[in-house]
Amino acid sequence: MAQVILKNLTKVFDNFTAVKNFSARVEDGKFITLLGPSGCGKTTTLRMIAGFIEPNVGEIIIGKEIVYRSKEFYVPPENRNIGMVFQSYAVWPHMNLLDNVSYPLKIRKISKKERYAKAAQVLEMVELEGMGQRYPHQLSGGEQQRVALARALIVDPYVMLLDEPLSNLDAKLREQMRFEIKELQKKTKVTIIYVTHDQAEAMAMSDEIIVMNKGEIQQIGKPEEIYENPANKFVANFIGLTNFIPCKVSEDRKYLIVKDGKGSKIEYVVSEKHKEEVILCVRLEDITLKPYDEEEMNGQVIRATYLGNLVDYLLQVGEITMRVQVKDRRFSTGDKVSLIVDKKKILLY
Ligand SMILES: Nc1ncnc2c1ncn2[C@@H]1O[C@H](COP(=O)(O)OP(=O)(O)OP(=O)(O)O)[C@@H](O)[C@H]1O
Ligand SMILES: [Mg+2]
Repeated sequence: MAQVILKNLTKVFDNFTAVKNFSARVEDGKFITLLGPSGCGKTTTLRMIAGFIEPNVGEIIIGKEIVYRSKEFYVPPENRNIGMVFQSYAVWPHMNLLDNVSYPLKIRKISKKERYAKAAQVLEMVELEGMGQRYPHQLSGGEQQRVALARALIVDPYVMLLDEPLSNLDAKLREQMRFEIKELQKKTKVTIIYVTHDQAEAMAMSDEIIVMNKGEIQQIGKPEEIYENPANKFVANFIGLTNFIPCKVSEDRKYLIVKDGKGSKIEYVVSEKHKEEVILCVRLEDITLKPYDEEEMNGQVIRATYLGNLVDYLLQVGEITMRVQVKDRRFSTGDKVSLIVDKKKILLY
């Protein structure tokens, strides 16, 4: 439907910079997700794109049209061809579904007949056909969520902005709705900018993810790039579960010497760009355990938590602790084990 280009968007509330120098390009028909911890500026960014918050500086282009440029242009929300689903999805309890869904057309002064006809269409699109006369309290949480989606779709948006649209749903329904939203996008070919702080949701749905922290972009990339090649420690920590292990590089640069008080060694060729002191990042699933072997890095199980598909082991390795998640259920609290780090998955910072 339309590309979205954001250039150097900055928003300062009083003295607090909520979003700083945000630049990104969302290609037509893509699904892009803003991912980051609470308060990092996701909603503020989305509301600037929608036109509900005016940036201090920057430029916003939707399709071919500039909708915002500092001190020159400001196109109001209703003229931006955008559908938005808000963070606390408000379906109005006193309105039936037809009125809920057709409300954006009412604001645009479209006749009742026309807007009800269109509402019936979008209700069908989200698989709520024939339910127009019902009230929200007669729907399940997932169905209410779809009403909010239908209301965003009714304006034939070029772009849909979805702010944590699934946060009120239980885990199973959330997962199901992920697929439904993706299907809806296939049908409508609408560009979607999605906000979540749930990384699994971001991974499953997005063509690209923008990781944010404290108002600033940390990394933009495909889900697998973000997961496998995090740009910095923040991203490595925020996405997935990661051990951060302080190490020294051996003089011949062929070993990492773990600062665990006993100098456990991991064979690993360290490139020249790293200093003598490094932080080894390795994900919980990229370490395997085997029975004690004095040649390897060793530790003792201090907690084994059964997670169903995996066991989460907390290990005392000399003076430090490490966590490992593996299918292997052989070990229990008190056991001495060896830890084998998958060298291909090692990241150094
Ligand atoms: N109108 C406002 N006035 C002052 N500060 C604000 C205003 N709106 C947001 N902020 C601040 O800006 C920061 C970013 O807020 P924002 O709502 O964008 O975060 P978020 O990433 O959406 O977080 P969450 O995941 O909790 O929804 C927060 O620290 C917030 O307190
Ligand atoms: Mg928010």
